[in-house]
Amino acid sequence: TLEVIFIFIAAYLLGSIPSGLIVGKAFYGIDIREHGSGNLGGTNTFRTLGKKAGFIVTIADILKGTLAALLPFFFDLGIHQVIVGIFAVIGHMYPIFAGFKGGKAVATSAGVVLAFVPLMFAVVVVVFLISLFITQYVSLSSMIGGIVALICALIIGDPILITIVAIMTIFIIYRHRTNISRILQKTEPKVNFFRKH
Ligand code: G3P
Repeated sequence: TLEVIFIFIAAYLLGSIPSGLIVGKAFYGIDIREHGSGNLGGTNTFRTLGKKAGFIVTIADILKGTLAALLPFFFDLGIHQVIVGIFAVIGHMYPIFAGFKGGKAVATSAGVVLAFVPLMFAVVVVVFLISLFITQYVSLSSMIGGIVALICALIIGDPILITIVAIMTIFIIYRHRTNISRILQKTEPKVNFFRKH
């Protein structure tokens, strides 16, 4: 129906809000896509603009997914939350407000999971942080997070959750293909936990 199409478009537009671009341009006069990995995401914001900006952008990108997945509630539509949520993830990767050059699906996918199964979000975040601490690769830890999310979805057993999380994990891995080749060539930058800013 029309309402369902409207809600998909609303979720896509929400996901399209380029928080990394907004924070970078408004407060630093910088397009982070011209720096670091060129990615419009929390990690590259952290890398280019520092901890505070990176944190804010990551939270904003998570919230886009969470809010999108809550839209069916606001509009009282009986459509599965994660189906709506994935449109925000697509918006985040291919934002209409930023020339379709967006991020790598990690934070926004996590936000969708947060809205639907908060415990699953917590498990994925803990595994992500452990992996980040051990490997110091955000990209690799993001992909591991995606795979752990898929395992959680399989354990929960909701077929729609399994399908959508599988799609999200494929998106995440696909969007990290340059990171994957850098990891294999040992040229992928590691995060430095002891950086001053
Ligand atoms: O946020 C995406 C992260 O997993 C990798 O980002 O900038 O290092 O390619 P980046």
